[in-house]
Amino acid sequence: PPASAETYADPSRYLNDHPSNNVPPHIAALVGRGLHTRPDHPIGIVRAKIQEYFATLPHEYVVYDAEDPIVTTTQCFDDLRIPPDHPGRSPSDTYYVNDETLLRTHTSAHQSEHLRSGADCFLCAGDVYRRDEIDSSHYPAFHQLEGVRLFPEEEMAGADGLKGEEWTSSDECATISVDLKNTLEGLMDHLFGETEKKWSEDYFPFTTPSFELEIKYEGEWLEVLGCGVIHEEVLQMADRPDRRGWAFGLGLERLAMILFEIPDIRLFWTDDERFHSQFKEGQITKFKPYSKFPPVYKDIAFWIPEDFVENDFFEMARGVAGDIVERMELIDEFTNPKKGKTSKCYRITYRSMDRSLTNEEIDALQDSLREKVEVDLGVEVR
Ligand code: PHE
Repeated sequence: PPASAETYADPSRYLNDHPSNNVPPHIAALVGRGLHTRPDHPIGIVRAKIQEYFATLPHEYVVYDAEDPIVTTTQCFDDLRIPPDHPGRSPSDTYYVNDETLLRTHTSAHQSEHLRSGADCFLCAGDVYRRDEIDSSHYPAFHQLEGVRLFPEEEMAGADGLKGEEWTSSDECATISVDLKNTLEGLMDHLFGETEKKWSEDYFPFTTPSFELEIKYEGEWLEVLGCGVIHEEVLQMADRPDRRGWAFGLGLERLAMILFEIPDIRLFWTDDERFHSQFKEGQITKFKPYSKFPPVYKDIAFWIPEDFVENDFFEMARGVAGDIVERMELIDEFTNPKKGKTSKCYRITYRSMDRSLTNEEIDALQDSLREKVEVDLGVEVR
């Protein structure tokens, strides 16, 4: 039977002993939480505010928010012209359920199916998963909102059949870029009030030209979204060869952290009432930190094996200690030229958002991590 939103929370969908499965239990436990569909959760509030803006535009956007987070490599990569050797496909960056299916790394994985089913204008929100570094703004699960608009065929008639450079230098392609930028600038003003914005060129295999938008927040430029004119081959593969349009994808955590002044991305996943009681449907309010408990720092150093994958090591720490791992940073590195070996030293910041940690419990966790590194990476911890 087809999966439904309720069944997504079943960890057994993601855990199996297929040789390419690299989903750990602590990630499987995050799937299906549906933060983007909770009206009084900051992620759901931002998502609703974005939808509110699109509802004021002249075209009707269909909203999708309950697709299966397991997608095929075809949906996530091939349909989007992402080449076989692209780093985003690597198991060091992506959670595979088996050889052909994975936890979606972006909501763009659903673009093609909706286009193929005949949708012209739509929004698509969901949880996405990426193996990555660990700090206050990176978490292996986060949320994206995708937007797509195809233009009426008659408005694009002049570009009929154009490909490559001929298409990207056409007036029609320029019309789409201008509409895309205006639409997204309007969205930012709706979210932030008048705010300083900066466009730069970007690259995505599925859009050309491609752009990124940054906004100024507390004196710093922050990237908030990627977008572009949908590549004609993507439309062709989705059985919409006669149509043209744009697409964008934005990170909901990034926007929510700015709007609600939420200092740490782990907070979105907490069950603590002191967090949840602060948020109400339809309201953007400043988060009042309930208390910040002291951090505990521990260093770990080892000679790295030849096939060392940093994300594997980061994930080991979250596997052992869970969300109290706040940050992992490389603080020292040197190569012994005689031995031809490199030693790396990482500093781990442990901190709970809910309670004080004892030195004994952190020592015990750090010991388990050292043991795991020795066994799983086959190295000697120094
Ligand atoms: N999927 C891209 C990302 O995750 C964002 C994007 C979406 C870019 C749609 C262009 C068009 O970074």
